[in-house]
Amino acid sequence: MKKAAITGHPVSHSKSPEIHSYWLKQLGLEGEYGRVEVSPSTAMDFYQSLKDNGLDGCNVTIPNKEIAFEAAQHLDDAAKAIGAVNTLWLDEDGVLCGSNTDGLGFLGNLDQGCPGWDNNVNKAVVLGAGGAARAIIWALQQRGFNNIHICNRTFEKSKVLADYFGGNVSAQPWENRSTDLEGADLLVNTTALGMKGQPKLDIALDKLSKKAVVTDIVYTPLMTDLLKTAIERGNPVVDGLGMLLHQATVGFAKWFGQMPEVTEELRQQTIKSMDLEG
Ligand code: ATR
Repeated sequence: MKKAAITGHPVSHSKSPEIHSYWLKQLGLEGEYGRVEVSPSTAMDFYQSLKDNGLDGCNVTIPNKEIAFEAAQHLDDAAKAIGAVNTLWLDEDGVLCGSNTDGLGFLGNLDQGCPGWDNNVNKAVVLGAGGAARAIIWALQQRGFNNIHICNRTFEKSKVLADYFGGNVSAQPWENRSTDLEGADLLVNTTALGMKGQPKLDIALDKLSKKAVVTDIVYTPLMTDLLKTAIERGNPVVDGLGMLLHQATVGFAKWFGQMPEVTEELRQQTIKSMDLEG
């Protein structure tokens, strides 16, 4: 029986076991997905001897994503571009392979939540310049966005990211986040602003075309103030929960051999278990 787990420190709050258990049951597959606490000091050894630790693969969460990147013997394009690994598996020769599935999760969520969202697109505005922004910028480049603006509180961080991704990605001052929306086809919030317990995201959408898609990676609450404001003015919106669910599909397929589906039932189950609409 194949075994996988969420690894990191801490992992007690992770919803991944519930998501993978849902798919194992739905697809009638034998398999197990658990939680393993792995501190950064032991992480390299742990990932390099995954099988000896009773696992065929795993997800990697904070603070081990960069260590997993170093541990993997083979990295796919997404992992290489993003510089961090959140999914590890052993191939048929026992080689430890790593991917970063956040970018694909972001795309899968928009494909499902707003089909056709990437038709004739050009400009995207990305708020934030952390790990999530890095994965999302990679994903947007895959889908042909020719003009990606990063607005981040710390300009230097957006500049580093813009330089890393190259020509069609530029750093914009955080103060310009509202005016910079002119001509954008997509607005993405990758910061923690608007999350329960965090400050509000202060942005005016007046300059944004009503056709532009608005999405937030924050999903606590599910309907952030940004998404509410966008809906009120008629913009199509996609909430952030689907990114969490879609990013998990890739690892599941690697470990258990079948690509699972993000169903409405799974979404509702996750909303209930996280008390997201409460
Ligand atoms: P993740 O890996 O989830 O992207 P992160 O690397 O901690 O998380 O990035 C968090 C992002 O939210 C950063 O872009 C951060 O801006 P800074 O680079 O200036 O730190 C942004 N962020 C967090 N709190 C913020 C605030 N109060 N105002 C503006 N941006 C904020």
